[in-house]
Amino acid sequence: MKLSVKECCQTLSRRLGYKVQRVRRGDHYIPHKMLAAQTGEDAPYYTEYATRWPIFAPWVGHPDFLALYQESAALTLGDPERGYLLISLARYAQYLPGDFAECGVYRGGSALWLCKILQETSKTLYLFDSFQGLSKPDPQYDPYFREGQMAAPAAAVQQLLRAFPFVTLREGWLPETFLGLESKRYAFAHIDVDLYKPTLDCCIYFYPRLTPGGILLFDEYGFPSTHGEKAAVDEYFADKPERPIAMITGQAMVIKVPSQRA
Ligand SMILES: C[S@@+](CC[C@H](N)C(=O)[O-])C[C@H]1O[C@@H](n2cnc3c(N)ncnc32)[C@H](O)[C@@H]1O
Repeated sequence: MKLSVKECCQTLSRRLGYKVQRVRRGDHYIPHKMLAAQTGEDAPYYTEYATRWPIFAPWVGHPDFLALYQESAALTLGDPERGYLLISLARYAQYLPGDFAECGVYRGGSALWLCKILQETSKTLYLFDSFQGLSKPDPQYDPYFREGQMAAPAAAVQQLLRAFPFVTLREGWLPETFLGLESKRYAFAHIDVDLYKPTLDCCIYFYPRLTPGGILLFDEYGFPSTHGEKAAVDEYFADKPERPIAMITGQAMVIKVPSQRA
């Protein structure tokens, strides 16, 4: 068998105990100096991470995953890894008491996954978005964002999700759009608003209304460019029993514990 130069190099390096891999520098890449300014003393713990061994990674294109993922892929800003976790955690939470919510809907891609998962349930899916893009970023926490970024038409999302009557679209600015929903209980909330202030508003609203075992999933907790999201989550959970679980995808989740230790 004839090996290409690339394969020869890969084989040789593997025999020597190394793995050569091209580092992807996507939208979230920021130079080290900016990273240090944004993340402070945690800067050494921000890293471009790859697994050491081959692992089962259905998000790279396994048919089971693609069946649900593919239709939404072009409508979401997330990547397959984050999509996989969102889908998997939502599949779990559908069995808990309480409704579902997403804050930060954009073009409706991630909401469409949630709709498909909830089809067989009696839950409501609340979708919260200004549809005018981001609110005013906090200069300290959100220096990489502009007001109005990621605006998307609400009508297009309504059209996309028209087959799912259990969807309630709450168009407008957070936290005002939570008004009137004080008595609700939630099994799952996907929080994807990127900025410090609305992320904190989401924690304040959802955490007390989350069923034990329920999940808050924060989409961009681990990315230095969205450090405001992490700052808000860490601030809110500093005096709570739950610690946000940072994940290899850059997301973090909080699983609500029962009020008493067992
Ligand atoms: C990253 S996008 C959401 C992406 C979407 N979940 C997906 O995966 O495709 C962030 C969204 O948050 C919304 N947003 C940001 N700040 C907001 C606020 N204060 N009130 C309401 N919506 C807000 C923006 O309009 C935008 O659609």
